[in-house]
Amino acid sequence: MAEAQAQQRGGYTDDGPATAEGGVRFEVDGEIATITLARPEKRNAQTFATWSALARIGESLPEQVRVVVVKGEGPSFSAGIDLRMFTAEGVPGQGSFGSAARSDGADFEQRIRQAQAGFLWLRRPEIVSIAAVQGHAIGAGFQLALACDLRIVADDVSFCMKEPALGLVPDLTGTKPLVELVGLAKAIDICLTARTVHADEAMRIGLAERVVAGGDLDQAIGEKVAQLLSTNRDAAVATKRLLQGAQARTLEEQSVAEGIEQAARIRALFG
Ligand code: ACO
Repeated sequence: MAEAQAQQRGGYTDDGPATAEGGVRFEVDGEIATITLARPEKRNAQTFATWSALARIGESLPEQVRVVVVKGEGPSFSAGIDLRMFTAEGVPGQGSFGSAARSDGADFEQRIRQAQAGFLWLRRPEIVSIAAVQGHAIGAGFQLALACDLRIVADDVSFCMKEPALGLVPDLTGTKPLVELVGLAKAIDICLTARTVHADEAMRIGLAERVVAGGDLDQAIGEKVAQLLSTNRDAAVATKRLLQGAQARTLEEQSVAEGIEQAARIRALFG
């Protein structure tokens, strides 16, 4: 019942209106979808309910959507995993790492795969995802920003891959995009020191596409969305598919792939 009400509002609140542990709001306006982490009083800390809400949004994303904006309400984009996961009590209804450690290892791996599903769909060729990041993007928050195609950040942004400091690895799909964006050496430096990356460095090393004053973040996102919507939809999808496959292919293979995509475009445009 509570879930049904939440979905009517366009939101997902896995644990009902009183606790709203999922803490994710979802709105669609034509070709633009906006996902908002909406638990600012807890700095948008993430739980399993957050990740299943994200996965469900991905599963039911309306076909007309071309751009997905991921943002966080309040001073921080996201302070990462809800630290109650590390306590004996855990997150009500969702357990804790202690209870997970005592469960069958395969079960927990499956649970991690489910959580990752909330992040992986943001790379689909059919959409471009943009993270609007202000304040803290720590751990799972950093990885959610990394799950997006583009990151536009406020000048107060601070990225931190805190997992290794807590005895964990980053497991929410963040390691591959981080290495691809900044290179292996810098990724090792950032993760294994758990140090903070501020706006100027984020821009310099390729983590951020653009840095703006905090008050200008919404406008900067709006400008990027408009630019992305100005190109041909089918060509954009095919081009993203090509770009995503480029690293894994040889130049020769990539050239062949370009030809195949272009022949399909020409047939669609002039056939
Ligand atoms: N989990 C649960 N609650 C959190 C989290 C979190 N990750 N982060 C912040 N909160 C809560 C605080 O407990 C506090 O709650 P309260 O008002 O009931 O006391 C509220 O959010 C505000 O937090 P403050 O610390 O007061 O906010 P501030 O702006 O001063 O600091 C900061 C923000 C730096 C993000 C700080 O809250 C922090 O260090 N949080 C923990 C970050 C962390 O270690 N995350 C785990 C990373 S590893 C991973 O994601 C796998």
